[in-house]
Amino acid sequence: MLGGTWTAPAAEPGPEVPQNVNSKVRNNVAEESTGTIQARTNNVADRNLAMELVRTTEAAAIAGGQWVGAGDKLAADGAAVDAMRSLLSTVHFNGTVVIGEGEKDEAPMLFNGEQVGDGSGPASDVAVDPIDGTRLTALGMNNALAVIAVADGGSMFDPSAVFYMDKLVVGPEAADFVDLRLPVKQNLHLVARAKGININQLTVCVLDRPRHQQLVDEIRATGARTRMILDGDVAGAIAACREGTGVDVMMGIGGTPEGIVTACAVKATGGIIQGRLAPTDDDEKQKAIDAGLDLDAVMSTDDLVTSDNCFFSATGITDGDLLRGVRYRGPKITTQSIVMRSRSGTVRMVEAEHLASKWEKYARR
Ligand code: FBP
Repeated sequence: MLGGTWTAPAAEPGPEVPQNVNSKVRNNVAEESTGTIQARTNNVADRNLAMELVRTTEAAAIAGGQWVGAGDKLAADGAAVDAMRSLLSTVHFNGTVVIGEGEKDEAPMLFNGEQVGDGSGPASDVAVDPIDGTRLTALGMNNALAVIAVADGGSMFDPSAVFYMDKLVVGPEAADFVDLRLPVKQNLHLVARAKGININQLTVCVLDRPRHQQLVDEIRATGARTRMILDGDVAGAIAACREGTGVDVMMGIGGTPEGIVTACAVKATGGIIQGRLAPTDDDEKQKAIDAGLDLDAVMSTDDLVTSDNCFFSATGITDGDLLRGVRYRGPKITTQSIVMRSRSGTVRMVEAEHLASKWEKYARR
């Protein structure tokens, strides 16, 4: 568990509590005298780790953003990984990358199994995506993000068996109404009804892929609109859970790792993701069966990340429905991030101004 209860050393019997103190204080005094008081300041349970993690996504966005439109996705990704990793070492936590850039031989940094943070506190799972939308970054197109998610150790689903997952993401109003097993048409009518809008006012975000042709036809046949995106279904999914983004639902097949990252994020919004593994060949099917996975099962948000103690941060690299991209203007670099904590259900937008001279190491090509 990230955080936990700090147990005070056995206390001497305290002074009598005057009758006129309020009940909250009275309870705290009682807890303190029995040694069960929850630490309210130093304990990680009371600390929003995401407020520190935002520095790592800002760094990745600032470094990767230098390569926007430069046509080189590997260079962009390398710069973002490098910057995120460097900042991660300064964060006070004990993380293991469980969703990273791949196995060690292929990924020199932020590989699966890598220890990150300064090692303090309880073990936690870390999912990194220094650029979700490497192609978008290279092409200078909308919706690329730098992303990190952290949850209690052992709580994230292992996505290694099957690369793709069929996903359905909706915000809080429709969370209790949809089911991936229902026909597309029925789900969309249920969402429209839950949101109190006409079906033709509903916008469904879908990755623009040939595999989605039938899905897109079914969506359009209901009268709903599609928002086709070239890449970046984490941004699309979070947009579906937020008011004012112009997106109501995200549907279709995308990366399983991105599905888990999305689960960590949507928990703070009250929205949900449902996912069904979508193997592309017999090898993947066999791998899933060997891992004891049920290919017909629809996984809920809680199946994808069992912990309710998730921290999430994303910073815009390029402009998008969710976030504005990095701006480099003379002496200043500006970033916009979304920072979330599931336990408190808090979503914060963080606007930051960075002195360019302090970022020369990362913001350089
Ligand atoms: P990368 O930036 O890591 O390439 O991922 C982009 C992305 O669009 C994800 O957002 C999405 O889940 C996945 O790729 C879809 O995979 P594919 O491009 O193979 O359809």
